[in-house]
Parts: sequence; C-alpha cells; structure tokens
Amino acid sequence: MLKRSAAMVLALIIVFSGLGMALALEADGNSRKGKYLFRKSCRGCHAEGQQAKDMSPVDMTQAQWKQLFSDYKKLPCYDKWGNVPEKDVKDIYSYLYGHAKDSPSPAKCK
Ligand code: HEC
Repeated sequence: MLKRSAAMVLALIIVFSGLGMALALEADGNSRKGKYLFRKSCRGCHAEGQQAKDMSPVDMTQAQWKQLFSDYKKLPCYDKWGNVPEKDVKDIYSYLYGHAKDSPSPAKCK
C-alpha cells in the first residue's frame, strides 16, 4: 500500500515538472521580430518621457529578464498590453534576453 502511494506521488511529480517545463517561456523565438514587436507594443509606454520607465534589453541581466517573463501575465502592465499572443511575447522575450547586459551582444533600444 505504502509502495503504491509512493509510486503515485512520484508519477505526479513527473507529470507536474513536465508541465512546468512546457509552460516556461524559452528564449528561442525570433529576436528580430521581437525588436519590432517590442517597439510597437511596449515602447509607447516604456520610453523616455512616457508613463513607464525607459526599457531596453541592456537594462537587465538575462537572469532578470528570465525572472520577469517567467510569469509575465503578472507584470503590472500586462492588462494594458492589448492582444499580444504568446508567440509574440516569446519573440519579445527572445529580443530582450538575447541582448541583455550580460549577453554576448548587449543592446539599447532606440
Ligand atoms: C500602457 C502603458 C504600458 C505598456 C503598453 C506596457 N507597459 Fe510595461 N509597465 C508599465 C508601467 C506603468 C509599469 C510599472 C512602472 C514601471 O516599471 O515604470 C510597467 C512595468 C513593466 C515591467 C516591470 C519592470 C520592473 O522593473 O519590474 C516589465 C518587465 C514590463 N513593464 C514589460 C512590458 C512589456 C514587455 C510590454 C510590451 C509587451 C509592456 N511592458 C507594455 C506600462 C506599460
């Protein structure tokens, strides 16, 4: 009996960790498209003189971008993004992550 419940727990752990992996955003989207989408959907607010602080890939480390996008629906402005499909969020994330300050090619968004 004990053995069986241990096996159940193990099976659940495997299922849930698999789900977690499927939900985590990968930085393997299209970074060039991400740059375009970021300027279109985010820079209206995240720029000098706008309502949110200026934001460029180089403002964060890869770990920080990863952290921020691990649960991007909880970002303070998510409800104001409009309709940004997950595929586009992935591209934006790939752009920000790929040009973070500790990446091989840090970039400022102009
Ligand atoms: C309608 C304005 C608006 C739009 C559009 C917008 N944001 Fe924001 N965002 C804000 C505000 C306001 C905050 C909170 C204050 C701040 O960070 O300046 C914020 C905060 C954030 C933060 C948290 C920053 C931190 O240091 O914790 C991230 C990340 C972010 N936004 C990403 C994005 C992305 C990516 C997009 C485009 C898909 C986007 N935002 C579009 C207004 C906006």
